[in-house]
Amino acid sequence: MTTKITTMADVSKRSIQLHYDLATTFYRLLWGPHIHHGLWESTEEDNPREAQLTLTNHLATLAELKPGMEVLDIGCGMGGSSIHLAKTYGYQVTGITLSPVQAAWARTSSWWKGAGKRTRFLRQDAEEASFPIDSFDVLWSIECTEHLFDKPGFFKRASQWLKPGGKLTICAWLAAEQPRTPQSEELVKQVCEGFLCPSLGTASEYQSWFSDAGLTNVKFEDLTHRVLQTWEICKRRVNKTGVRYLAPIAGQDMNQFIKDFETILKAYREGAMRYGCFLARK
Ligand SMILES: C[S@@+](CC[C@H](N)C(=O)[O-])C[C@H]1O[C@@H](n2cnc3c(N)ncnc32)[C@H](O)[C@@H]1O
Repeated sequence: MTTKITTMADVSKRSIQLHYDLATTFYRLLWGPHIHHGLWESTEEDNPREAQLTLTNHLATLAELKPGMEVLDIGCGMGGSSIHLAKTYGYQVTGITLSPVQAAWARTSSWWKGAGKRTRFLRQDAEEASFPIDSFDVLWSIECTEHLFDKPGFFKRASQWLKPGGKLTICAWLAAEQPRTPQSEELVKQVCEGFLCPSLGTASEYQSWFSDAGLTNVKFEDLTHRVLQTWEICKRRVNKTGVRYLAPIAGQDMNQFIKDFETILKAYREGAMRYGCFLARK
């Protein structure tokens, strides 16, 4: 059975690319080399850099990756995950991103950090990319599938790139399961508009997209309460640091951006949104 999702926000591929082309420096200064939530054990801790790596390592442990594996990092940003995976675990990583600025950034950063020989970065649209069948041991994606327009179609295509026995591992922003209240629906819509996501899938939609793509042993872990702190820290940082002055250069209206941080926090707290990771096998 194929699940069709509705488009929640009026977003174009061009606007997503432009956003990451312009805002990458802003994200780097605000948050660090990873553009994804941090993962915390407790609300006492306040080290986002560490928390970003905790999330990356959590996913690597979940996927039981082994040295020498071929990994495709889908929506690789500045190469945060790709470089970490190549350096720490010895994987060969190909990273793809919609943004040519990010691809160049990731390439430079990888050489600078000594992982150049184990990584390559391409400016490619994940919904149009084509790789030979059975070419990767792992498909890895942190917070990119939110931006995809045809999520079920993407998983069908991408699963062909996986070797038999290969693994798909993903972290994603999720909409709460149906039925949702009109207020929850509105919050998810505002998050989609603010963060340029055509739609957010629910955990069960993701699970059915994996199954429809021929992937099995689908596991899901809800991490919502361990990532929430991300947005409190971002709010504090934009309010207190000079990074706010960069926002207009990065094409961001700072007041709107802070409102978007508040909206996502509200969406998580009121149960309109969840955050989770998935693992599936071919
Ligand atoms: C929130 S960032 C996450 C970056 C990275 N995974 C990380 O964790 O640091 C979203 C990423 O998805 C990428 N992206 C969005 N739509 C994409 C598409 N259609 N094809 C490839 N990359 C895409 C963006 O360019 C950006 O790099």
